[in-house]
Amino acid sequence: MRSKIQNKYTKVQLAPNCFIVKSNTLHSNDFSADIAYGLSRKNKFIHSKYFYDKNGSYLFDKICDLPEYYLTKKEMQILSEINKDLLEHLDGHNMVVELGSGAATKTRHIFETLSLLHQRIEYYPIDISDIVRESSQRLQDEFDNLHITGIVDQYENGLDYIRDISGKKLIVFFGSSIGNFDHAEATEFLKKVNLAMNKGDLFLLGIDLVKNKEILERAYNDSEGITRQFNLNLLCRINDELGGNFDIDSFEHVAIYNLQAKRIEMYLESKAEQQVSIQDIGMTINFRAGERICTEYSYKYTISQIRTMAKKAGFEIKSIWTDKQDYFALALFSKELKK
Ligand SMILES: C[S@@+](CC[C@H](N)C(=O)[O-])C[C@H]1O[C@@H](n2cnc3c(N)ncnc32)[C@H](O)[C@@H]1O
Repeated sequence: MRSKIQNKYTKVQLAPNCFIVKSNTLHSNDFSADIAYGLSRKNKFIHSKYFYDKNGSYLFDKICDLPEYYLTKKEMQILSEINKDLLEHLDGHNMVVELGSGAATKTRHIFETLSLLHQRIEYYPIDISDIVRESSQRLQDEFDNLHITGIVDQYENGLDYIRDISGKKLIVFFGSSIGNFDHAEATEFLKKVNLAMNKGDLFLLGIDLVKNKEILERAYNDSEGITRQFNLNLLCRINDELGGNFDIDSFEHVAIYNLQAKRIEMYLESKAEQQVSIQDIGMTINFRAGERICTEYSYKYTISQIRTMAKKAGFEIKSIWTDKQDYFALALFSKELKK
């Protein structure tokens, strides 16, 4: 019998061991309401989760291949080096839950390690983007021991979906997406992850570390202009899905490191005074020349901040690995058991 939660999803089978469940409530109403709210504020903003339509997910994959975007390379490097260490912590973990799985490129390392221990691995990728379909199908072709249920929904709902499924879980959250939350939100989010875990479950978190301003700004201002396209794609999305008339060429991509707040700030800056209308939400927006829409914060952490946040969220720290240059960290947590 389907549970109450499962009834909120439409299930499609892509292959014998590969299903996609898509939330029935993840629809465009949220997008229009959030755009209407964010663009009517004094400090205009668009939530970074809206980057990931089909084109946005494709552009993000291209960003991962850019020489300046060290984040993916460093995280992959650490993952490829910690197999042995990770194996020591794994004990019957045959279920992988991935938050914001995207193309799931990094997760292949995890499957290779787990395949040494298990003939069958249950995999639950959770992503707001339909990219889950494509990436699940690809993984299924590569690893015949994977049983996949891709969840197209927001992180929190995906965590509710998997909470009561039996199996020893390894939850992974790569790409430093935790950096998109401010510090208080990040701790609250980690508490939700903790709540979805049982005794013995593990959580592997990838986090970008505080470093030199030039290296950080170069990563978000690549020479090929892919990050620029990724940022501007938000305006294309509003034009396509909500009947907007943004003139894309009259906005510029801006990414700067705020040293004090230890975060990259990404904006779309209006090159001139202009008026934009969005038909479906009956909205006209005035922009001053130089006025910005904030599209992303990406907080960078120190190891000591990671430790503090983990403790606050009720985690026990099993290990923290970094690359040789200390650019990026992977942290392994378990649920702290109440004494
Ligand atoms: C920075 S990318 C990381 C992708 C991949 N994990 C990696 O490390 O390369 C963030 C991913 O999270 C997804 N995402 C963003 N906000 C989300 C949300 N609120 N709920 C679920 N998925 C989300 C995006 O669609 C995207 O695939």
